[in-house]
Amino acid sequence: MSRMQNAVISSVKTALGWVPAQWLPGGTPDPLIGRSAAIGRQDSRLDGPDKVSGRARFAAEFGMETLSYATLVHSTISRGRIAHLDTAAAEAAPGVILVLSHRNMPRIGTVPLISMADMTAVGNSSLPILQDPEVRYNGQVLAAVIAETQEQADHAASLIRIDYAVDTAKTDFDAAKPAARVPASVLMEKNHVSVGNAERELQRAAHCVDQTYKTPGHNHNAIELHALTVAWDGDALLIHDATQMIAPSAKAQAKLFKLEPEQVRVVSPFVGGGFGAKGLWDHQIVAIAAARLAGRPVRLMLSREGVYRIVGGRSPSEQRVAIGADAEGHFTALVHTGYSIMPPYGACPEQYSLSSRTPYRSKSFEILQRHLDLDIVPNTFMRAPGEAIGTFALECAVDELAHQMGIDPIALRLRNESERHPIHGTPFSQRAQGQAYQDGAKRFGWDRRHAEPRARRDGEWLIGMGCAGGSFPYVRMPNANVRITLRRDGTAVVASSAQEMGMGTATVQSQHAADRLGLPVEHVTFEMGDSTLPAAPIAGGSSQTVSVAGAIMAAAEKLTVELVRLAGNDSAIAGLRAGEIRLADGGVASIEDPSRSESYASILARAGRDELTVTAAGSAPLEVLKYAMHSSSAIFCELRVSEVTGEVRVDRLLGSFDCGTILNPKTAASQFKGGMIMGLGLALTEETLFDARSGRIMNATLADYHIPAHLDVPEIEVMWTGIPDPRSPLGARGIGEIGITGVAAAVANAVFNATGKRVRELPLTLDKLL
Ligand code: MOS
Repeated sequence: MSRMQNAVISSVKTALGWVPAQWLPGGTPDPLIGRSAAIGRQDSRLDGPDKVSGRARFAAEFGMETLSYATLVHSTISRGRIAHLDTAAAEAAPGVILVLSHRNMPRIGTVPLISMADMTAVGNSSLPILQDPEVRYNGQVLAAVIAETQEQADHAASLIRIDYAVDTAKTDFDAAKPAARVPASVLMEKNHVSVGNAERELQRAAHCVDQTYKTPGHNHNAIELHALTVAWDGDALLIHDATQMIAPSAKAQAKLFKLEPEQVRVVSPFVGGGFGAKGLWDHQIVAIAAARLAGRPVRLMLSREGVYRIVGGRSPSEQRVAIGADAEGHFTALVHTGYSIMPPYGACPEQYSLSSRTPYRSKSFEILQRHLDLDIVPNTFMRAPGEAIGTFALECAVDELAHQMGIDPIALRLRNESERHPIHGTPFSQRAQGQAYQDGAKRFGWDRRHAEPRARRDGEWLIGMGCAGGSFPYVRMPNANVRITLRRDGTAVVASSAQEMGMGTATVQSQHAADRLGLPVEHVTFEMGDSTLPAAPIAGGSSQTVSVAGAIMAAAEKLTVELVRLAGNDSAIAGLRAGEIRLADGGVASIEDPSRSESYASILARAGRDELTVTAAGSAPLEVLKYAMHSSSAIFCELRVSEVTGEVRVDRLLGSFDCGTILNPKTAASQFKGGMIMGLGLALTEETLFDARSGRIMNATLADYHIPAHLDVPEIEVMWTGIPDPRSPLGARGIGEIGITGVAAAVANAVFNATGKRVRELPLTLDKLL
């Protein structure tokens, strides 16, 4: 399959190379670039007051008559089967309505794994859910109890007894290496990249680093736990879910439970953090089936431990990065290979090897990732999947090379900047990584850094500075739809099933729609979070803003055509074609002669209409094949390391970004900073402790899995070039995940500058520095 995908993408790319740019999306820059009013303003979040006052309701907060509560029972072995399942005590316990297991679970198919091609393919795991007595990983759901109260369900679940027939499980990362698989593709990219002869170039190179970097597993820890409140009404299904894929998961549920698409409604106005975790997992399927069997609405909220057990995290990785350079520091070889876990029933390849394809020119490349099949809950997308850990390896290696050569690490990077994409040869739509570095270095005071390690000290504290770059691909998802309703009173409603997971979706899309339609932002309402609205794609890969924006663009074009038609021959714009008209100042106006205009109110009134509605889909995102489109970052860190305890204290962090137009500086700064804090977790504290003997995660609690707390987070500064991307809606690119990429390497490089110690294994805990 993925070999075929490689062939298809490669021939489409070749074909698009010949197609004139103006025929493609982004061929003509979005006219709103440089002409915006609300866009670029620091509007406060529209959902802010609802959130701080508690009016914003999350999936587990929707009340229902006769609501019942579910608790899951997880396996405690990795591989084998249920030999004996005793549910009698649980069934007899007070308040218990139903015990669900493979014995009474309805027969359903498996969930198709996440893919861009099929809108119902949203699964993170294609393993059967309560369909048989097989156990395939430690933590798998084996039963569920439904009871009158949560406490009764929890208690009854503790009474279920399971005897297992235990088989040998594959749970050891190193032991699985000899049987590693080499997939043909990694997401949309060909896996194996081989340009020139990198190994030979390495041997000939004037300067060379060749190192192995390791990163641990990570688990998801959104503030809001995974939860749903679900009710059947006959064959109609209502799901209040915490999901970052509202429309696609409604489609998938319909398919699984053999319903018509319009019989399933997923509502999810607010999500308390997604980060890749809030997709479709076993708990939704179990709760929906339980509600059907119980004939009652069911609420299922995973425990914090439950999230660790059945929601995948980030795969551990072992990466080799080797860089060869000539005497001037021009790269002659760039090797990035390694191992991560991706069982065949999972969807996320942890695409770390994509990190080395974009940032640097090199005479030769050798890039390849290998996948290990372990019997675990399939790891999934998490906070800049791939790039977050791939840039750690790459950007540490670049720093090592710079030190070896006695070159400033920024100078070495800029020396290897490329005019075109180093692998694909396609032109960058826009790239000002050099400027991001230079502006960041100036603001940070990079010139105060001493090139030699251990040069600065404050008592027991060694002080150092480091920097690193990051890159994250621009993604615009296909299948983004919106509906625009223009009303006679001069207001508009823009509707799409889009997701709000904390990033300010409605705020920024209202700003956008206001500018697109030429209305004040107060006159625009953005409706979202409900699968009955025109379908938006999944919010992932930092893609939602441009995906929805592309659909709003398309709908505004359609609206223009409709307005011209409606305006008729009595209008000041009569005789003009849609292409000669722009939407501005609450109406339509001739682009050439703005005095020829008519307001929406006037057009609708004359036509005897209260409102005008159009629905449209965004164009196919072909720009990503014609151009190399990437957000990029330059991250700077100053920190201190105690010579007595080995602890690392980050004093200052600065992110300098090149991500196209910044649509709302306030919400964008929050996202950048949030991402950088996740980067600090990656660098210093986060680590899933996995017992390879039992296949069990041993620190499934926030007490034992350390995410950065307030005292761990220093002053963070963010800045950006703000240069519009001429190929994307509004000139914007993704900002959600780029904040994370580069941080871990910047921290590790600063630790080296402070102490002279290279730590090539995350997290950078004190034991590694003593
Ligand atoms: Mo993201 S890890 O694509 O939600």
